[in-house]
Amino acid sequence: MFDLKSYLDSRKRMVDKALEQKITPGKESDRLSRAMAYSLMAGGKRIRPILCIAAAEAISGADVDAEILECACALEMLHTYSLIHDDLPAMDNDRLRRGKQTCHIAFDESTAILAGDALLTLAFEILAMAGTTHLKHTHQWIKIIHIISRAAGYQGMIEGQMRDIFFEGKTVSLDQLKDMHALKTGALIRASVNAGALLADASLEKIDRLDRYARNIGLAFQITDDILNIEGDPEIMGKAAGTDQLCNKATYPALLGLGPSNAYLSKLIESALLSLDTFGRQADPLRAIADYIVQRKK
Ligand code: IPE
Ligand code: IPE
Ligand code: MG
Ligand code: MG
Repeated sequence: MFDLKSYLDSRKRMVDKALEQKITPGKESDRLSRAMAYSLMAGGKRIRPILCIAAAEAISGADVDAEILECACALEMLHTYSLIHDDLPAMDNDRLRRGKQTCHIAFDESTAILAGDALLTLAFEILAMAGTTHLKHTHQWIKIIHIISRAAGYQGMIEGQMRDIFFEGKTVSLDQLKDMHALKTGALIRASVNAGALLADASLEKIDRLDRYARNIGLAFQITDDILNIEGDPEIMGKAAGTDQLCNKATYPALLGLGPSNAYLSKLIESALLSLDTFGRQADPLRAIADYIVQRKK
């Protein structure tokens, strides 16, 4: 039987090690890089980089190499920047993240804004550098930069975040909610899987299947986050619960109720697994991650 826990642990260790080498705060006065490293290395499941790696493994079965770790680091930096900004007083106004004080509490608001900005730009510096270092894949890297920038930007995550704020206190339709979730969380998850597939030289047919997998688990990931915000244990999650209701956020449990939200999750995971049915054992990590995404407690 595939051992997901040891898989996640080993891939997380690889990602953490690669990330540690990217930002090395020097002096005490090096406030910006200390804030960047504080949030980046605060913990976190590393699910986006791990999905990128697992997608590549599903295609090639090859060992994790330095090239894919560059992409993994960039994805985690983008995600961490989005969390730093998401927690700001003008956004969700949260004080706890990854079991620690949020960046703007541990430092201050302006430092948190700048640390987020710097992680965002560093992510693209890393991607562009990788394209000039790994010449065999220069074309793929350009494609990856295009996919990730689109997913992170105004046609992806940022638009999702805009809607998340705009929808506070409003009644939204199921379609509006689904689109918002697909943008704010699904887009980067999709980009992570697609990037891994591209670096493993996947065929168009395989990329299409992996993309379908990613769309389903991306939506499932955010619905689970919504549910955990109601039922989860803050001690385990390392972040507050009950905040969505306080902010009148548009969420699946708020719109549908917990039972139907859970039923929908099962359908999404079923669809995700179905899109992998032509893949062999090499896709077992992706299969196990799909189940994990809805069963997780943090
Ligand atoms: C939290 O993401 C924000 C969402 C998009 C739901 P994660 O649940 O991946 O958070 P970390 O990285 O493990 O802290
Ligand atoms: C976070 O969504 C999405 C992004 C940061 C893009 P939420 O605001 O729902 O996530 P948590 O619950 O704070 O982690
Ligand atoms: Mg938010
Ligand atoms: Mg939030």
